[in-house]
Amino acid sequence: MAHIPSDVWQLNGVSEELELLHIEVEVDAVGNRPGREDALYSKNVLRKQRHWERQLASKKSKRKEEKQRRKLHQEQESGTSTDNPKLTKRVVKAITKERLTEAQATGLKVCVDLSMTDCMSDKEVSRLAGQLRRLYGSNRKAARPFHVFLTDLREDSRLYRECLRMNDGFLNYVMEITAESCLDLFPPETIVYLSPDAEKALETVEADKVYVLGGLVDESIQKKLSYSKASELSVHMARLPIDEYMVRKDNAKNFHSKILAINQVFDILLTFRNTGSWTRALETWFPGGKGYVIASDDSQTPPGTAAQT
Ligand SMILES: C[S@@+](CC[C@H](N)C(=O)[O-])C[C@H]1O[C@@H](n2cnc3c(N)ncnc32)[C@H](O)[C@@H]1O
Repeated sequence: MAHIPSDVWQLNGVSEELELLHIEVEVDAVGNRPGREDALYSKNVLRKQRHWERQLASKKSKRKEEKQRRKLHQEQESGTSTDNPKLTKRVVKAITKERLTEAQATGLKVCVDLSMTDCMSDKEVSRLAGQLRRLYGSNRKAARPFHVFLTDLREDSRLYRECLRMNDGFLNYVMEITAESCLDLFPPETIVYLSPDAEKALETVEADKVYVLGGLVDESIQKKLSYSKASELSVHMARLPIDEYMVRKDNAKNFHSKILAINQVFDILLTFRNTGSWTRALETWFPGGKGYVIASDDSQTPPGTAAQT
């Protein structure tokens, strides 16, 4: 059998180790001739390992892309950004707290309806808790944050426990956390339930409306849940204006999806609210892997749809 110095093993990556493993199997085949099952087993391990590596690489590049997007966005907002390195941590904390408190008095209202978690797996509940953390993180960084409500969140629920476990300082989040429903809190005519399946596109965001996001993650894709929920509540509903501002982009997997995570929809609303431009908001936050790009005609923002304060 070929001798492989131990430092080579240490230096090479996992896939190279497996390549070496492959060589080892072939060499063995000359002498010991491992059984067909062993060969199949190694092939399977190798295939799974490659699949896992591809997934890891794709996740890494998505994270990098997301990071770059956030950085770009923060640079664009640098005039009002709390990321200014000249500010001390204490000042940043004070500004953030002041903005969030102000938003609770006068901010545009966004509500996350968490009444549908019973039909979710533990993994989905964990992902939802993570999305709520990112949503709050975006709101903290915003120059003009939203007044955020988490409704139907009972203290004895899996999601509440998961939020406490995963989200540092969850109990100190400057947002309304309540077991009441959005209908208990707001008149039905003020509610705009956001659903990817709604017929009407959202044109603008208004101070006298409450924008409700369905607290769902799409692991086990449950179609039209938010649409059914909004119909059941008899409230207005709207979808993001993706068809109006974006076009399909060819990709190898021919994958196109307009369904976003709640924190991504939240980021789009925040940017639209601060810039009045759907093009800008969608360009900044619509995930690259969803198979859509901004339509090349740059005059998409219809007149009179600039965000109102
Ligand atoms: C992961 S999506 C849930 C998708 C789910 N299949 C459903 O029934 O809506 C979570 C929430 O984000 C919001 N959302 C996601 N994509 C949207 C879009 N294109 N337009 C409007 N809202 C969207 C909706 O409020 C939705 O309930």
